[in-house]
Amino acid sequence: MVYDFATPVERRHPEGGWASQKWHRYGEDVFPLWVADMDFRSPPAVIDALQARVAHGVYGYGEVPATLTETLCQWSALHYDWPIQPEWQQWLPGVVPALHLAALALTEPGDGVLTVTPIYPPFLEVAKRTGRLPQQAMLAAPAGAAEPWQLDIKALEAAITPRTRLLLWCQPHNPTGRVWRHDELAALAELVERHDLWVVSDELHCDLLLDEGAQHRPLAAAFPELTKRTITLWAPSKTFNLAGLTSACAVIPDPVLRERFAAATKGLLPDSNVLGLVAAEAAYRHGEPWRQELLSVLREHRATLQARVEAWPGVHLSAPESTYLAWLDMREAGLRDAPYKTLLKEAGVALSDGAAFGCPGFVRLNFGTTAPQLEAALLRMDSLLKRN
Ligand SMILES: Cc1ncc(COP(=O)(O)O)c(C=O)c1O
Repeated sequence: MVYDFATPVERRHPEGGWASQKWHRYGEDVFPLWVADMDFRSPPAVIDALQARVAHGVYGYGEVPATLTETLCQWSALHYDWPIQPEWQQWLPGVVPALHLAALALTEPGDGVLTVTPIYPPFLEVAKRTGRLPQQAMLAAPAGAAEPWQLDIKALEAAITPRTRLLLWCQPHNPTGRVWRHDELAALAELVERHDLWVVSDELHCDLLLDEGAQHRPLAAAFPELTKRTITLWAPSKTFNLAGLTSACAVIPDPVLRERFAAATKGLLPDSNVLGLVAAEAAYRHGEPWRQELLSVLREHRATLQARVEAWPGVHLSAPESTYLAWLDMREAGLRDAPYKTLLKEAGVALSDGAAFGCPGFVRLNFGTTAPQLEAALLRMDSLLKRN
């Protein structure tokens, strides 16, 4: 290992100078495995680039550097076999704002905005917050212990009405970690075309595929017929642990769609953060060896967690194929209250509440932390779950 993914980094600054959502929402006695950021330092090349930019000392309005858009083109061609162009990229201060802005740009008040559940909670808020109609379809739950969650294409089609205009899609999928198979996506693509829907494909976790040989294909690249109707959202934030630097990118090949989206962002979005842009470029340009080591650490942590879950009666995990989030079914664990509440109160571990993702009785556990920290948290969970 060249990089240090093993030594815990203090994220609870005594005077609050490093205040983080993850480590400060709950008391000092709680171990946080909830919000999706990792406890690792970003790649050294990112830290060096930021230090150089900070030393410059002038932080006026920035511009997206051509070197950044070129770097993302290279990353896309190399890793996803998708030759994107610089002008297709609209850099933004976040993926969640882009989900909302896409709804404003592409739909009218009262139109249906469709998504699948369980899902990353902001997806469920987009329709409500933008005056659109929320529409949801459940994924097919695992048929057995080692089975994956699957796309239930019939349920998705049944949720579509003449008012449905936009599909908010997530691949790889948060929270299940599913990397959708080509046949699932082909059925989705066919459905989207037949019902003439716009698609926002949130591919934020696409650099973190865990299985050896697994290959991410952007939805718009795998199904060129969707290119005209798809906005692809990427960011270096999950991959390189840069979420606090707020930089993300909407990739929109179609010029008309691009203009429509860009018009919706005017006046609502701040310019990109100059430090976020510098970090994004350094990460995509120099971060690959770090990412490879991160993937091997995450694979180990996934295995640690899987082994542990075996010893927790009534708890089920269909192993994530991507990212550092595990989606645990605790409906049969015999806990007194909602699982996240019981684990918080009785084990001192903060997980994400499945109800917010559309599935009460489930929790999402973030294993993007160091091995000793993960072990400490799992020991706490043992104390509750082994005896139930
Ligand atoms: C699928 C997905 N989309 C969006 C986000 C948030 O992105 P941003 O912080 O850029 O708004 C997350 C964060 O966990 C996520 O998992």
